[in-house]
Amino acid sequence: MSNIQQTLSIIKPDAVERNLQDQIKKDFKNNGFEIIKEKKIHISKEEAERFYKVHETKPFYNDLCAYLSSGPIVVMTLERDNAVMENRKLMGATNPTEAEDGTLRKKYGISIDKNSVHGSDSLENAKIELDFFFNN
Ligand code: CMP
Repeated sequence: MSNIQQTLSIIKPDAVERNLQDQIKKDFKNNGFEIIKEKKIHISKEEAERFYKVHETKPFYNDLCAYLSSGPIVVMTLERDNAVMENRKLMGATNPTEAEDGTLRKKYGISIDKNSVHGSDSLENAKIELDFFFNN
């Protein structure tokens, strides 16, 4: 039975800076994702803090928000069967040094902060994150 879902993907500043967005979009399409919406934006530190609020208590929160607001990003609505889980598989482990061969973070990531892509971690968060970027 099909289980079509939508999830949020962000191409982070390190990847946009290296002009990798077309390559990464091709990777998504080659892996069965349809890009339903996309926009290139540069968010403020305050917006990054609202977006990453779930990480508020983590020691890396401040650097993380400073980083996501440090340059342009590309935000996308991705759609396919089991999109949330399939996107997480395609991205690989958070830390590029631990990510498996062929995953986006292995191919493009530089460090745990500059790991090139973000993806929603659950269907519930996908709805919240898509709403954050596309419904306001
Ligand atoms: P992302 O999927 O965007 O979600 C939160 C981000 O925090 C994560 O990717 C990493 O880039 C960043 N981060 C920095 N340090 C850590 C850490 N120790 N554990 C998890 N995420 C971290």
